[in-house]
Amino acid sequence: MNPAIRLEAPTDFRETEFITREAFWDVYKPGCDEHLLLHKLRRVPAFVPELDFVAVHENRIIGNIIYSRVKVVGENAVAHEVLCMGPLTVAPAHQGRGVGGALMRHSSARAREMGFNAILIFGNPGYYHRFGFENAQKYRITTSEGANLDPFMALELREHGLRGVEGKYHEDPVFKIDAAELEEFEKQFPFKEKHVTDTQLKL
Ligand SMILES: CC(C)(COP(=O)(O)OP(=O)(O)OC[C@H]1O[C@@H](n2cnc3c(N)ncnc32)[C@H](O)[C@@H]1OP(=O)(O)O)[C@@H](O)C(=O)NCCC(=O)NCCS
Repeated sequence: MNPAIRLEAPTDFRETEFITREAFWDVYKPGCDEHLLLHKLRRVPAFVPELDFVAVHENRIIGNIIYSRVKVVGENAVAHEVLCMGPLTVAPAHQGRGVGGALMRHSSARAREMGFNAILIFGNPGYYHRFGFENAQKYRITTSEGANLDPFMALELREHGLRGVEGKYHEDPVFKIDAAELEEFEKQFPFKEKHVTDTQLKL
């Protein structure tokens, strides 16, 4: 499938939040919070509106990718700015047809043109290795707690894009989702039952 990809407009926000909730529901835990993260992320200064893309099919939004600016801070307290990608969403009925890949490739090419050096993500290695993401440990970049784990990956957007960039990753505080705020936000959407499943993926 070769979907049309365009920048997201404020009038799309609701629909995109809806499909994000549908796509993430019960995948990583019972219910999900990615739709609230998306809702809040677009309002913080770290958000990069030039990299907020939607995939469109028959006038409906079927996918979304979004980026924010994050810092990698080394021992000498020097802060290096890179991009953090996520959430990446494809509506359940359109998954597995190349839409996520198209959004990933389109947005990373645009990020490179804009002069960004690298992208960091927390994601499923089985999916993201195909785009060249590697464990961030390779670049001596750790999580804010100083850890390395398989889902924490980096992609250089140009040769040696991460040369000299090492240290701890500092994401925007918006990524910490408050349970009470999520419960309130959920009231804006049709009720969905949460389930514990055997296949719940760990990030
Ligand atoms: C993950 C997601 C964005 C991928 O988009 P997509 O359009 O379905 O994927 P594509 O068609 O580009 O790629 C399909 C391939 O990805 C694999 N894939 C899809 N979701 C995957 C996942 N969560 N983990 C690992 N691999 C995955 C498929 O098995 C398929 O593999 P193959 O090419 O070897 O057959 C989409 O499935 C989705 O929104 N999932 C729910 C939310 C989510 O997990 N988002 C990503 C957060 S890290």
